[in-house]
Amino acid sequence: MAEKISVLIPKEEVAEKIQEMAVQISKDYAGKAIHLVCVLKGGVYFMTELSKYITEPCSLDFMAVSSYGNETTSSGRVRILKDLDESIEGKDVLVVEDIIDSGRTLSSLMEVLKQRNPKSLKLCTLLDKPDRREAEVTVDYTGFQIPDAFVVGYGLDYQQKYRNLPYIGVVEL
Ligand code: IMP
Ligand code: MG
Repeated sequence: MAEKISVLIPKEEVAEKIQEMAVQISKDYAGKAIHLVCVLKGGVYFMTELSKYITEPCSLDFMAVSSYGNETTSSGRVRILKDLDESIEGKDVLVVEDIIDSGRTLSSLMEVLKQRNPKSLKLCTLLDKPDRREAEVTVDYTGFQIPDAFVVGYGLDYQQKYRNLPYIGVVEL
């Protein structure tokens, strides 16, 4: 069954914002090597696009944690489904996420990563739904703050669909 999707953020705006974020990140990390940690699967479109415009040296790694499953409510705990390939000890780590909703996933994940002794640890998200926050999480770079709606596209899914949309859309459930 196909859901009705309305455009929330057009693809041109998403692309422009990501380039702006990359410029800011390149400035902030001038002279450093950035180790990007992508939270799968949602963060992958954002990370690849962002990394193309970062002008400092970059390395990439991937991690998968449990979140929503097929539901539109958060499970409230983080489980590592796929761990990083490399150690982050002594590295300048920038976690790249698609969206911060309740904040539970990321607050747990940042805690786990902090214990692995990176040189620095920051968080970058394409979208943030601040009204939904339940767990405290420090976000260093935010693309767009959006209202409380279930969004898809640019890596975000509804029941594993719509990740490949080039814009951010709202699912009308
Ligand atoms: P949190 O733990 O509630 O912050 O949830 C974070 C994760 O839930 C995100 O990384 C997404 O995978 C998923 N998520 C939260 N809101 C949405 C949404 O509006 N659309 C699709 N996935 C979402
Ligand atoms: Mg995610």
